Amino acid sequence: MQLAGQAALVTGGASGLGAQTVRELAAQGAKVAILDVNVEAAQALAQEVGGLALHCDICDSASVEAALRAAAEAHGSARVLVNCAGIGGARRLVGRDGSPMPLEDFSRIVNVNLIGTFNVVRLAAAAMVAAEPLEDGERGVIIMTSSVAAYDGQVGQEAYAASKGGLTSLTLPLARDLAQFGVRVVTIAPGLFLTPLLYKLPEEVQQSLAASIPFPKRLGKADEYARLAAHVVTNLSLNGEVIRLDGALRLPPR
Ligand SMILES: NC(=O)c1ccc[n+]([C@@H]2O[C@H](COP(=O)([O-])OP(=O)(O)OC[C@H]3O[C@@H](n4cnc5c(N)ncnc54)[C@H](O)[C@@H]3O)[C@@H](O)[C@H]2O)c1
Repeated sequence: MQLAGQAALVTGGASGLGAQTVRELAAQGAKVAILDVNVEAAQALAQEVGGLALHCDICDSASVEAALRAAAEAHGSARVLVNCAGIGGARRLVGRDGSPMPLEDFSRIVNVNLIGTFNVVRLAAAAMVAAEPLEDGERGVIIMTSSVAAYDGQVGQEAYAASKGGLTSLTLPLARDLAQFGVRVVTIAPGLFLTPLLYKLPEEVQQSLAASIPFPKRLGKADEYARLAAHVVTNLSLNGEVIRLDGALRLPPR
């Protein structure tokens, strides 16, 4: 589908990859709602692009339902959902003092990245399947954000890799399930992107991370993610696929 005039939802749209996606979708004429726990940053961006900022915790069904309702009231029923909300975190399975990783550390990350994303997908999909089909039978597009850690999880990344691997595995069954309604599901698995997640690292660490990427030998730009997300929306044959966006990076064990 074309983006112009479509209502779009971007979770985690207040920062990083999500924020750039908000700018790209808005630049292509979409009516964008930013769903984020960081409502101040969401509001600032909404003003910049003429979008809508909504406080939303993707793990909380009532919060997602309220945000989807508010977005639909302002923009009409959304046909585009880009899921960027997520958290990082690394911890060794058995610490130096011999103590096991607290279960809470694992479940917190899986709860946001995997279960929270699924929560938004299930609620937004119900609205998409109820919408009128477009000319080619299409009703909606759902994009999820995995990570190369889904394939090459590093030491201490058990929780993060499992959460992103879950999204990778979800992609095909979701696409198959929603095919009868003309809703597509595509996942993007970014490599190392320069977002607030990585800005915080010292310059030399950023440089050594960049040097590990075969080509281009630099950290990914949020704009490259955003342009791919926008392309996915417009390309009807992209469905049920996970696209690595990583400059041929394969993460080493540590
Ligand atoms: N930056 C990278 O190199 C990279 C690489 C691979 C995958 N990713 C994934 O891309 C996505 C975006 O990453 P980023 O680097 O832009 O991160 P970021 O921290 O800049 O942005 C994430 C946003 O998600 C929001 N958020 C967190 N928990 C939330 C919740 N429960 N409900 C609603 N919003 C919530 C945050 O407030 C923030 O605005 C994440 O899922 C991340 O795992 C990033």
